[in-house]
Amino acid sequence: MSRRGRKSKLQKILITGSAGFIGFHLARHLLAAGHRVHGFDGMTPYYDVRLKEKRHALLRAMPGFTATEAVLEDMATLEKITRDFAPDAIIHLAAQAGVRYSLSHPRSYVETNFTGSFNVLEVARQARVKHLMMASTSSVYGANPEMPFVETDRADHPLTVYAATKKAVEALAHSYAHLWGLPVTLFRFFTVYGAWGRPDLAYFKFTEAILRGQPIDVYNHGELWRDFTAVEDLVEGVSRLLPLAPPLPADRGTQVEGDSLSPVAPWRIVNIGNSDKVHLMDFIRTLEGLLGRKAICNFLPMQPGDVPATWADCALLQRLTGFRPGTDLASGLKPFVDWYRDYYRS
Ligand SMILES: NC(=O)c1ccc[n+]([C@@H]2O[C@H](COP(=O)([O-])OP(=O)(O)OC[C@H]3O[C@@H](n4cnc5c(N)ncnc54)[C@H](O)[C@@H]3O)[C@@H](O)[C@H]2O)c1
Repeated sequence: MSRRGRKSKLQKILITGSAGFIGFHLARHLLAAGHRVHGFDGMTPYYDVRLKEKRHALLRAMPGFTATEAVLEDMATLEKITRDFAPDAIIHLAAQAGVRYSLSHPRSYVETNFTGSFNVLEVARQARVKHLMMASTSSVYGANPEMPFVETDRADHPLTVYAATKKAVEALAHSYAHLWGLPVTLFRFFTVYGAWGRPDLAYFKFTEAILRGQPIDVYNHGELWRDFTAVEDLVEGVSRLLPLAPPLPADRGTQVEGDSLSPVAPWRIVNIGNSDKVHLMDFIRTLEGLLGRKAICNFLPMQPGDVPATWADCALLQRLTGFRPGTDLASGLKPFVDWYRDYYRS
């Protein structure tokens, strides 16, 4: 592509949650491709803030990155930043994440995920961005027994406050897309893992405990299946969707098969998973192999709010972008294990 052609495709992108696990990887990827990124993150203490600070410090060392540290609920700051930066696109990843924590801290989910996302929708509307992309979750499929999960399946029975706030944001975003012609893509992510990962997630806790010779808690006696997604695959999928803002109904040509486009608004949902479900005990064996140590398993019953399986149908992502995530677990976990051992010197 000519330099001029490449330049015209380069965008100014506001990423919320840029100090988080996925936001960090995505910002790095987009900066390396030549885009300008402004990060927005509240550095909340849900897990070790030093990890977030280190991710942001690495991004600040890259050309094209600037950042604001503030919470989404601070509407005046969010509005000022959006006005000053004038983004072409917003990728909204900031959230109170975690399924289990939502049982004990529901208010934090309503404030960050619902009110915070409402603020993001408002600034996206005011700034007339070309594309607003928002992170939802596989948890919205809740009690849906049909596998693999397809975007057009009903997802009306969330099992946790986390899932309920994400589902509510999908609906709120639809109303903005309809009323204001704001193009919105919602991603449903499936258990993402990788270097610089989240300390609250099982793969991180397992690694920590196995290396220390401590037992790991294995829920539902190991009878759990998850669609594990390597962060590199997720970032590739999101980047390829960036130029594909959902069209208004009047501007649509032939639709791709199985598209989740709204009939009345420029709004679409896309699963990003690995199209495979892995048994938890196979996951643990793979991790043991990479760490060179055996896990001591403390088998426990199912946790409230948990689901036995997640499994993504990623055909829509592939039809839209030509890309299908496919990193196998051992290849995807290796960069995490290497990073963990180096970072924690263990
Ligand atoms: N990692 C996964 O497996 C997974 C799976 C499904 C969905 N998701 C979604 O993807 C997105 C990114 O997840 P992640 O794994 O990077 O999580 P993360 O917790 O590492 O990142 C979220 C970031 O948002 C920031 N944040 C939290 N509350 C905020 C607020 N009120 N104002 C401003 N910033 C705030 C945090 O400081 C953090 O840096 C989230 O929306 C999450 O719900 C993640």
